[in-house]
Amino acid sequence: MFADTQPISAEIGVEISGVDGRSLTDPRAAERCRELIDEYGVVVFRETGIDDADLVTLSRMLGEVVVPRMGGQEDHPEVSAISLDPTKTVLAAYNQGTFHWHIDGATDEIPQKGTLLTALEVSDEGGDTEFANTYASYEALSDRDKAEFENLRVVHSFAAAQRLANPDPTEKQLAAWARVPEREHPLVWTRRNGRKSLLIGATASRVVGWPEEKGRRLVGRLLAWSTQPRFSLRHHWRPGDLVLWDNTGMLHRAVPYSPTSPRLMHRTTLAGDEAVA
Ligand code: SIN
Repeated sequence: MFADTQPISAEIGVEISGVDGRSLTDPRAAERCRELIDEYGVVVFRETGIDDADLVTLSRMLGEVVVPRMGGQEDHPEVSAISLDPTKTVLAAYNQGTFHWHIDGATDEIPQKGTLLTALEVSDEGGDTEFANTYASYEALSDRDKAEFENLRVVHSFAAAQRLANPDPTEKQLAAWARVPEREHPLVWTRRNGRKSLLIGATASRVVGWPEEKGRRLVGRLLAWSTQPRFSLRHHWRPGDLVLWDNTGMLHRAVPYSPTSPRLMHRTTLAGDEAVA
């Protein structure tokens, strides 16, 4: 279906060139995207120039598209703008949180299953996006670690993630963060098809039943393990690039960029269809 398809590394990612946004609205293209996401975790289409209407059409063929409560585009409420510029999105103040490894929706009962992100304007400095494959990082653990982690549960909190970006919060910020309920999930997410991944990232605040410091050390150790170069990739954006990923098994983060940067991304997310088990 796509002529120029190159795997990026043994563990993560595939890059495709020569595809324009409109051709991605063909149902056969969407089917191939689904297969590539399953196989590689992250699918990079170079310079598609996809517009919002075609982004929404493709997203709908891949799953149920989430309509964000805030920050959607006027013509396409499913499409969120990602920027640090408050004139471009009401969520600019929260987007520094994207600088830390996370999966979207980790505080939800059912995290989102996928994300589509396209670059409208890019940054001269910083602003790449990094991805890390936690199916692969789980698989490469020792049998002893796998046995130890099998029954551990982790509390995920929005406040823990936001505190990384804003270590000195105001009372108002603390109150806003506290409105998002915490969520307990197993550390190891076992899918219906038997695949397993590690559910970690900025939201992972403590291990249930463990002293706080010991839990923090474990989560930190697993994050460092999972994001080492062998399991990860760094995407340097060109305008019009489109990246699709399996949000449940790929951690991601934006490399920090300046609040004055023109960087502007448009994003859709796909509702999850599998509770964490
Ligand atoms: C996100 O975390 O969803 C956005 C990542 C980025 O802006 O690179």
